[in-house]
Amino acid sequence: MPFSDYKTALVTGASSGIGAAVVERLCREGLEVHAVARSVEPLQALAERTGCIAHAIDVTDRGALGELTSKVQFDVLINNAGVDRPKKFLEAEEGDIDLLIDVNLRAVLHLCRMVVPGMVGRDRGHVVNISSIAGNYNFGGNSTYHAVKAGVAMLSNQLRIDAFGKRVRVTEICPGRVATDIFNHVHGNDPSIRERFIDGFELPQASDIADAIAYVIAAPVAVNIGHMEITPTLQVMGGLQTAKPEAPAANAPEGTKR
Ligand SMILES: NC(=O)c1ccc[n+]([C@@H]2O[C@H](COP(=O)([O-])OP(=O)(O)OC[C@H]3O[C@@H](n4cnc5c(N)ncnc54)[C@H](OP(=O)(O)O)[C@@H]3O)[C@@H](O)[C@H]2O)c1
Repeated sequence: MPFSDYKTALVTGASSGIGAAVVERLCREGLEVHAVARSVEPLQALAERTGCIAHAIDVTDRGALGELTSKVQFDVLINNAGVDRPKKFLEAEEGDIDLLIDVNLRAVLHLCRMVVPGMVGRDRGHVVNISSIAGNYNFGGNSTYHAVKAGVAMLSNQLRIDAFGKRVRVTEICPGRVATDIFNHVHGNDPSIRERFIDGFELPQASDIADAIAYVIAAPVAVNIGHMEITPTLQVMGGLQTAKPEAPAANAPEGTKR
């Protein structure tokens, strides 16, 4: 099984939610797991609990990532760190657009640039990119988030072409709603946020996503699971809306009335 071929893993966004669960799972599989996030305390607690190696690094800090990836030959790369901002595009703020591009897409591209050539050279490796159903479907939400997650989806497909001929596997994990603290991180800590997104719903847990990732890694090396969409059973994407144009106001200039 490939788990026994792989020795090292790098997981971004490891201080909470899906990333922390993936670190726990990969440590249980016996990998040397390097856990990256900004929050020092949860990372230290995770390291004590699992034996992972914690790195308090912002994924937008290219220098720090470059230093880490030049020291360790990573067999498994889990690009998981992600943020969202709740505003729709018509109210988008400049800084929010930059943040989503920097964390959710630019950092993923640069980490792949730093790690994948080594995998290709060693003829061994697995990249797992956590995108979102937002990268593959349209629904109400932050359009910048949809756009950058679509970039991660396309990158995942394209990487397989760039690594063609080598045993470097690439998987896009595409979650729907998962019961993590992301909704508090996006919308704030008001108790109503949990009620709106988590409480009373039947949702996949972070450990379910980690189990799926363990499954794709543990598949025989001849098997590349390229795309896995994991949603709550009680969640669907889709829908169609058609609006009538608003009638012009009664005092609108002549010629615009219908
Ligand atoms: N939960 C869902 O419903 C859902 C659905 C679809 C897709 N996803 C995706 O799944 C991934 C994980 O989400 P989650 O639900 O586990 O969210 P989460 O609990 O909010 O975790 C996000 C992680 O990303 C890290 N992070 C954020 N900015 C960072 C930065 N600049 N540098 C380094 N680390 C950074 C955070 O750590 P620090 O703050 O400590 O840096 C945290 O560990 C994200 O890519 C998200 O878009 C989640």
